[in-house]
Amino acid sequence: MGGFQLLSTLTQGVPDRIYDNTHHTVRPFAFDQKVAQAFTDMITRSVPGYAGMVDGIAAIASYYATRHSHIYDLGSSLAGCALAIAHTLHQPSCKIIAVDNAPSMIEYSRPLIADTPHPITLQCADIRQIPIENASVIVLNLTLQFIPVAERQEIIHRCYRGLNAGGVLLLSEKTSTTDAHFDEWHQSFKKNQGYSALAIRQKRAAIEKVLIPQSENYYRAQLSQVGFSDITRWFQCFGFVSFAAIK
Ligand SMILES: C[S@@+](CC[C@H](N)C(=O)[O-])C[C@H]1O[C@@H](n2cnc3c(N)ncnc32)[C@H](O)[C@@H]1O
Repeated sequence: MGGFQLLSTLTQGVPDRIYDNTHHTVRPFAFDQKVAQAFTDMITRSVPGYAGMVDGIAAIASYYATRHSHIYDLGSSLAGCALAIAHTLHQPSCKIIAVDNAPSMIEYSRPLIADTPHPITLQCADIRQIPIENASVIVLNLTLQFIPVAERQEIIHRCYRGLNAGGVLLLSEKTSTTDAHFDEWHQSFKKNQGYSALAIRQKRAAIEKVLIPQSENYYRAQLSQVGFSDITRWFQCFGFVSFAAIK
């Protein structure tokens, strides 16, 4: 069973209905208990191509993982990427470390990672504060967009420094774009996934307070400035983009 399919099986049955009813005050989106519980359904129905993104990350991670190195999943949520990697990795001596600063995410991911063919170490911590070292693979899948813009380059720089030569940073983000089609098509995708106009509007109002997208060119520039010269955009669906940057 592929990594994403596995996550979806493990967490099935908790549908995302968080924004279905009227919220008189739409609070800033938070990775709390309600979100953690419905997270797989929410992200699958909100991020077009999420399943392919996770399985693609696992495929690229397997290719770059080296013996006795660390694999980091930073902003791991329910450890979807770490799980997908654990189920496909060919290097048994690697250590997989999944980090998230939301206690509910860590709590809900604990049973999911209990029975993996390759152990995953979970850390409830801020990715701005943990040591990143001896890494062959670092995953930042839809995480950096929640960090203040001014602090993003420092994280990318720390990833670069923590990677061994030949290692890969997998960076996925919702990007801002001047192409209005992407936004319209994304709304249409969510509608097709069964979200009502009210749910789409309220979720959008909540998330826009905390998710600050930057352009694809911004990320390319940040990656180049810290030292990456081999940068490939390996995934795109509407404004969702993922880069593989090799040290
Ligand atoms: C959209 S989710 C990431 C999805 C996940 N990577 C996946 O592939 O399923 C963003 C996650 O980043 C976490 N996060 C945001 N800021 C963080 C920080 N400073 N340190 C650690 N985790 C953070 C949030 O708690 C949330 O779980």
